[in-house]
Amino acid sequence: MRKPMMAGNWKMNKTVPEALALARQIHALVGGSAVVEQLLCPPSICLHALKMLAEEMPFSLGAQNCHWEESGAYTGEISPAMLRGLVDYVIIGHSERRQLFGESDETVNQKTRAALAHGITPVVCVGEMLEQNERGQTGETINRQVRAALDGLSGAQVQSSIIAYEPIWAIGTGRAATAGTAGDICGQVRAILGEMHGETVADTVRILYGGSTKPDNIGAIMREAHIDGALIGGAALEAASYAEMVRITGEMYGA
Ligand code: 13P
Repeated sequence: MRKPMMAGNWKMNKTVPEALALARQIHALVGGSAVVEQLLCPPSICLHALKMLAEEMPFSLGAQNCHWEESGAYTGEISPAMLRGLVDYVIIGHSERRQLFGESDETVNQKTRAALAHGITPVVCVGEMLEQNERGQTGETINRQVRAALDGLSGAQVQSSIIAYEPIWAIGTGRAATAGTAGDICGQVRAILGEMHGETVADTVRILYGGSTKPDNIGAIMREAHIDGALIGGAALEAASYAEMVRITGEMYGA
C-alpha cells in the first residue's frame, strides 16, 4: 500500500547535459518500474530540462530545497510557487542544509508548510549527529525534529508528506546504519506520527532511510517493515548502481 521509492539526491553534482545523460542512462538500464517510484532530485538548474524528459520517461522529479516565501528580495533562493508544476517533491531540511546553511527546525517547518501549500510533497529530512548517536540521544533528536518539522500540519497534510531518516554519521561515509537500526528508527518515526495524528495517518506516510545506501545493502534495508524507500546520494550519481537498487527493490515488491 505504501509504494516503495528510490530517491536520488544528486546534491551539487551534474551540469544540465550531464543530468540529461544520467537520466537517459538510468532509463535505458531500468526503464519504467510498475512498483518502484523513481524520484530524481537534480540541482534546480537542471529541473526544467529533466521535466521535458520526464514526459517520456517514468520518473518523478524533486527539488533539493526551496524558500518558504512566494517571491521577494531573497537573492539566490527559489520559491515553492516557482517549483509548482515543475516538481512533484522537494527535499526539506537535509542535514547538509541544516549544518552548512544554518537551517533550523523552524525554517524546516516553514518550508514544509510552504511546499504543501503549493501542492508539492515535502521529503522532510531528520537525523542525528554522530555525537548525539554516541550519547544515546538518537531517539530524542528524531522526536524533536519530526515534531518541529510537522508542527501545525493537519493529518491530511502529514499524509501528503514523506519523512527521510538520514543519520548524519552515515551520509557519504560508506558506513550505513545496520538495516535493523535503520528500521527501528523509522519505526519510531512512524510511532511519533501515530501519536500526533493517529495510526491511519501514520500507516500511509512513506518513510525513507538515507546514508550510504548502495546495491549491496538496499535489499536488507528494504526488508525492514517501516522503511519504504531510500534517499540515495553517491550511489544515485551512477546510472548502474541506482538502476540496480531500483531493480532489487522491484524484485522484492514482486515486479
Ligand atoms: P550518501 O548516499 O552518499 O551517503 O548520501 C545520502 C544523502 O545525503 C541523501 O540525501
